Amino acid sequence: MSIKKSIEIHETAFVTSAYRASYESISKDYYAKLWRNPKTTAWIKNYSKSVSSEEAFTHSLRNRYFLEKIKESVQNNKIDLLINFGSGFSMYPYFLNENLTHIEIDKPDIIAYKKDRISDFLADYKLPKREVHYISSDFSKDYEMPLLYEINKIKANRSSFILIEGVLFFLNRKETLRLFDLFSKIQKKNDLVGSVSFQDQMEETETFKKLIKFFKEQVVLSDHFEYQTINDGFYNGLKNYTLVDQQDYFSIKAKYAPEKSFTEEILNENLYILTKN
Ligand SMILES: C[S@@+](CC[C@H](N)C(=O)[O-])C[C@H]1O[C@@H](n2cnc3c(N)ncnc32)[C@H](O)[C@@H]1O
Repeated sequence: MSIKKSIEIHETAFVTSAYRASYESISKDYYAKLWRNPKTTAWIKNYSKSVSSEEAFTHSLRNRYFLEKIKESVQNNKIDLLINFGSGFSMYPYFLNENLTHIEIDKPDIIAYKKDRISDFLADYKLPKREVHYISSDFSKDYEMPLLYEINKIKANRSSFILIEGVLFFLNRKETLRLFDLFSKIQKKNDLVGSVSFQDQMEETETFKKLIKFFKEQVVLSDHFEYQTINDGFYNGLKNYTLVDQQDYFSIKAKYAPEKSFTEEILNENLYILTKN
């Protein structure tokens, strides 16, 4: 019997925001709960049983790590702009300093839905006002020129932090290289990139095998879906960037939630901060 595929890739954005809402004191994302909906709640229950029950906790740690890194850069006057590639339903603008400008980029349906809902939340005083620019783009298409044009119009000569979180798994290596090439065109010396990915060795773990099985059975995948793992060599080999920090879920748990333990095998990701040369 074939299993009905019920989740579109872009809907994974609802899932990561629901994860952050379930560990608010760790993620510090007190607005993630605004995106809660019954379909995502059911999906998470199923995923938690089929893959790993620690995903909500680890994703909350991930949000916290990038939040602290972005805050630190703002406090040190290093950045004026946060550009979030594959932003999904991330809510960073609303818990960061109001002087920061934001650009959020994602597929058209995510952007259209988010823009609409955010405007309702603002009208209902559920969110503080922030300067957020939304751009629709598909990183699997021929997107660079129009996207660069749109970003440059907003960015002018300002310094930026580019975040690409929870996205590279869905892209292939060629698309990833094109993205990092675009980042280097957008950014100037000492600007920052935050990225997260699975290392190759994760493929050997039972949890990762369960993840791939779950995606193949339940997620509507594009024709070219090949999931991607990325080793440190990729980041160390980028000629326009230098790796300045690297963590994984074990090291950030020790920092942000030392009192808690992982109760089963986790889908460990590596988190990287790079600066533009
Ligand atoms: C797991 S969600 C992560 C969202 C957000 N960064 C977070 O951490 O909550 C993956 C996001 O990547 C976006 N995405 C995946 N493939 C993409 C593509 N080819 N072009 C643009 N966005 C893409 C999806 O639409 C979705 O919003």
